[in-house]
Amino acid sequence: MCGIVGYTGNQQAAPILLDGLSKLEYRGYDSAGLAVRNGDSAPVVVKTAGKLVNLIQATDGGKKLLGTCGIGHTRWATHGDPTVTNAHPHVSDEVVGVHNGIIENYSELREKLKDNGYAFYSQTDTEVIVKLVDYYYRKYKIGPIDAINRTMVRARGSYALALIFSDYPGEIYAARKESPLIIGKTEDASFLASDVPAILKYTRSVYYIENLQAARITPSTVQFFNLNGDEVFLPVKEIEWDASAAEKDGYEHFMLKEIHEQPLAVKNTLKNTDFDNIDLTNVKALDIVACGSAWHTGVAAQYIIEKLAGIPVRVELASEFRYRSLPLSKGTLVVVISQSGETADSLAALRKAKEAHLPVLGIVNVIGSSIAREADYVIHTQAGPEISVATTKAYSAQLVALYMLALKISRVNEEPYMHQLDKLPALISKVLEDKKDLQYLASRISNSSDIFFIGRGLDYAVSLEGSLKMKEISYIRSEAYPAGELKHGTISLVEDGTVVIGVLTQDDVYEKTLSNMIECKSRGAYLIALTSGQRPGLEKVADFIIRVPETESMFMASLAVIPLQLLAYYTSVYRGLDVDKPRNLAKSVTVE
Ligand code: M6R
Repeated sequence: MCGIVGYTGNQQAAPILLDGLSKLEYRGYDSAGLAVRNGDSAPVVVKTAGKLVNLIQATDGGKKLLGTCGIGHTRWATHGDPTVTNAHPHVSDEVVGVHNGIIENYSELREKLKDNGYAFYSQTDTEVIVKLVDYYYRKYKIGPIDAINRTMVRARGSYALALIFSDYPGEIYAARKESPLIIGKTEDASFLASDVPAILKYTRSVYYIENLQAARITPSTVQFFNLNGDEVFLPVKEIEWDASAAEKDGYEHFMLKEIHEQPLAVKNTLKNTDFDNIDLTNVKALDIVACGSAWHTGVAAQYIIEKLAGIPVRVELASEFRYRSLPLSKGTLVVVISQSGETADSLAALRKAKEAHLPVLGIVNVIGSSIAREADYVIHTQAGPEISVATTKAYSAQLVALYMLALKISRVNEEPYMHQLDKLPALISKVLEDKKDLQYLASRISNSSDIFFIGRGLDYAVSLEGSLKMKEISYIRSEAYPAGELKHGTISLVEDGTVVIGVLTQDDVYEKTLSNMIECKSRGAYLIALTSGQRPGLEKVADFIIRVPETESMFMASLAVIPLQLLAYYTSVYRGLDVDKPRNLAKSVTVE
């Protein structure tokens, strides 16, 4: 989703803002812009459509924009096409601003502002909110914070705002409701950003501005205000992530780097996850809620927890959970899984659970994110910053956190399982050692128009993730099916040459899935088998076999997913696509 950066200090702002925006590219965007002011002069605005490189060229790497205070933005279009006019910043008489989120009542506010003499040039809700701040500021002759607060009372929806007022040189004003925004501080400069990687190079000291709070930022000070305009004091937090985490470190893409960071992400998550402060004693059922890949880890956990603990587990997509009339029963622990901790639907699901007075456990990667702050209990996965839109290391870290939850909740003797889990990082490294076959396979399937991933039980959970990885970065239509379901309709799509990837790591359903694969082969499918251990006769059935090492069968997803990530990665590379920033996608989906 949109990315915001801000800087005020004694350096030239534009190069810092461009650098920050480049670190937010992973969030997804289709246009970009800057507003920089030099002393008292009016802010100069430059906007371009398309990639950030266009803005870098238009400003000569920022050199054309002089000034030590400014704001920048990458826009992911919601209201209006991705054009220069709709790109941010938007300008009013006294205020220039950028915005992330959605203003739900923008049409009504736009009409009100038109009645008061405001003209509109873009189709965006952002222009409306910037002009609303301007309207209150000028009409009531109040300060920026009061004007922002009046705006927050009127505007519905979710937003993070960064604003420059022409009467306040060297200052940036900010506010947020739901959408993420952090403020970074050094001795002589202040920064603003949608996410940590944008400012990690400059500072690790950050403030997490709360919902419905506003902030005034100068080079030397940061102040926060509540909706009444009273100053509030927020603690400064130290980010532990290393600055190199936001760099590619010699890898061609962040995704490849993050795939290789999985042994460490798993090791650190195993080492740092404890349940000491989480009350699991009276848990009678689990509702696991998440989106996308995080939901896939929930599907895997469902099989494991039901098997180990024998308690009912529901796994719901957050976008459905939030609007369904689900009976939420006492004794249920709601588990919300999210890398970013900012996914709008997952956050809404968390709030629904809390309204029903159910305890919520957040399994979250980003420290200080909304889900981490609002959940009753939090387990922080230790994947470090994940930049590539396609998640890999956060997925793997979520899986092991869920394994550990399964062990805790079932009260089994953990020791033999932990022994197996401790070996996972080394086994993942082993899978990563040999990629040649997968590179060949990627070249073989890269012209396919359809790919099916099939499996049963935990193998189905892995299929879901393999399929999503493939489609989101290679743009090849791919579907995951429980292998037994194929016959009920989907097998009609299988024809000569259709690629079918069967995941076969679970002994108890191996033969069943294999039969389903053979049914596909009879209809001309090119069969790829992903398996572990000895599987006599498999060579005769499958056209290509991917083998991973063996571990406890409940943890096989952690190994089986790795070749599927690599296969998707190399397929995307073969097709010449933008691996880290696939079209239309955003890293963190902060709108519905
Ligand atoms: O930040 P979250 O884990 O809440 O994000 C959930 C999904 O948007 C995310 O997993 C998405 O499906 C990824 N692009 C998949 O690679």
